[in-house]
Amino acid sequence: MEKILDLISHKMADAFAAAGFDPAFGRVTVSNRPDLCEYQCNGALAAAKTYHKPPIQIAQAVAQQLDAVDFEDVSAVAPGFINLRVSGAFLQRYLQSMRQEPDFGVNKEPTPKTIVVDYGGPNVAKPLHIGHLRSAIIGESMKRIYKFFGNNTIGDIHLGDWGLQMGLIISELRSRQPDLCYFDETFTGPYPAEAPFTLSQLEEVYPAASARSKADPAFAQEAHKATFALQNGRPGYRALWKHIMNVSLPDIRRNYDNLDVHFESWLGEMDAQPYIAPMLEDMKAKGLAVESDGALIFPVAREDDKKEVPPCILVKSDGATLYDTTDLATLVQREQDFKPDKVLYLADKRQSLHFEQVFRAARMAGIVRPETELEFLGFGTMNGKDGKPFKTRAGGVMRLEQLISEITEYVRKKVVENQIVEPDAVEETTRRIAMAALKYGDLSNQPTKDYIFDMDRFAAFEGNTGPYILYTIVRVKSILAKYGAWESLPIQAPVSPSEKALMLAITKLAPALEAAYRDSAPNLICSYIYELAGAANGFYHETRILTEPDEKLQAGYIALIGLAKDILETCINLLGFQAPEKM
Ligand code: ARG
Repeated sequence: MEKILDLISHKMADAFAAAGFDPAFGRVTVSNRPDLCEYQCNGALAAAKTYHKPPIQIAQAVAQQLDAVDFEDVSAVAPGFINLRVSGAFLQRYLQSMRQEPDFGVNKEPTPKTIVVDYGGPNVAKPLHIGHLRSAIIGESMKRIYKFFGNNTIGDIHLGDWGLQMGLIISELRSRQPDLCYFDETFTGPYPAEAPFTLSQLEEVYPAASARSKADPAFAQEAHKATFALQNGRPGYRALWKHIMNVSLPDIRRNYDNLDVHFESWLGEMDAQPYIAPMLEDMKAKGLAVESDGALIFPVAREDDKKEVPPCILVKSDGATLYDTTDLATLVQREQDFKPDKVLYLADKRQSLHFEQVFRAARMAGIVRPETELEFLGFGTMNGKDGKPFKTRAGGVMRLEQLISEITEYVRKKVVENQIVEPDAVEETTRRIAMAALKYGDLSNQPTKDYIFDMDRFAAFEGNTGPYILYTIVRVKSILAKYGAWESLPIQAPVSPSEKALMLAITKLAPALEAAYRDSAPNLICSYIYELAGAANGFYHETRILTEPDEKLQAGYIALIGLAKDILETCINLLGFQAPEKM
């Protein structure tokens, strides 16, 4: 359905036309002086130049044409503004249609797209850390927003399962247990079904190997060799690789499940390997990939580049393939599997040059179709209160699991101390509030900005926080439950300023969602629901809802807060969290 500003603009355009002026001057905006009016049109000022007439005369002539049924106040003010307040009847009609249309009348994508969202990137055998958190939170939200607009979405975890960490682990295992069959080149199999390590052993092996490689160049060399041998299919290493995957994946899945983040595709860098050789052949044949000092590179610089854009490095002089190579081959694979209209990547914004190079090469090599959109959404860092990247108390990289358990503990204490729910509901309530705190705390910031992780602030029940939004929803739900069946009550015209303010806030849903969708900015949904929750609470404070004796009036109140609640729930779902039953 039409957005409210478009609807009012159309009425204004008609009024310009009826008064004998070009309807194109009838563009209406939300007022920047809410004390004076709700909407305004500055078209008469521009029209004055075209028609050589004083703007106030034009404004007055146009104002006279506007319908008194739709507008309760129309005033032409010097030098030529047209200020508007919409009528209660107009808002009633608009909200009633919002309620009746699917998804509150927000228009869907006219031609739905297939969109791959690449927002995982955990590195197998390394614990997930908070760097993966923003990717997961923002990506999951973008994926849900795409889907809301009617697109076909595929969330791809794109496991980091092919890098040097694998070679490091293999080399470390080899030096600890050289007699294992995986290291015996004469061994013909079959390899044991059981992994020679547990998850916690594996988690200890990687940091040990990584530290050792920094201190011991020979070991580092070993690890590079092992990585290369793995990539070239050495059977014992492939078998170990499988064990590493089998032991790690359930843990990775559990971590993402805890975050309510779900991927449709569980492929990794490894799955792109078969596409590399033919891709490189094609690039060489086209003259795009060239030898340079024993390496194979793909120059992507352009004459008009403001900063230097180095070539993609496809194959190093030692024969190893790299991050660029894998990302390009993954695009080959995605084109084959899904023919996506768009691929959205989420990663730390410091990776923006990498993606610029990959996107250029993919287009030059014809890996993606010219109309395919490639977007990199690079996010800022989550910092501690000291303004530096968030660390554990001991100064190490904070594991995702630890962060989640800290915020969960913090919330659980509040839930238990304030006796918010029955003992058997403590866990689920805690989980939902903690998720809201964490995700809203992240998503309410523009993705590209750094932000400070502040548990006290994020988990507060008041202020611009996830728990505050949940609290508003739960409060409305409890009024609705006390009232009884409300779903088919009609929306009525407002009888108080706070009721009208709530209705006006509700009408901003479509522009907020569209902007979030278009600009990859879930933060715009956060600002919208913060405003909406504020308006809902304002209305609630100033209105006797459950004790209102006039039944018709009461039914209108209930229908309105019911609509506000439904919209808030839809929006938090797009952000990736849910409200508890009680709070
Ligand atoms: N594994 C990478 C990392 O931890 C992130 C991968 C991002 N996605 C991609 N297609 N490159 O930094």
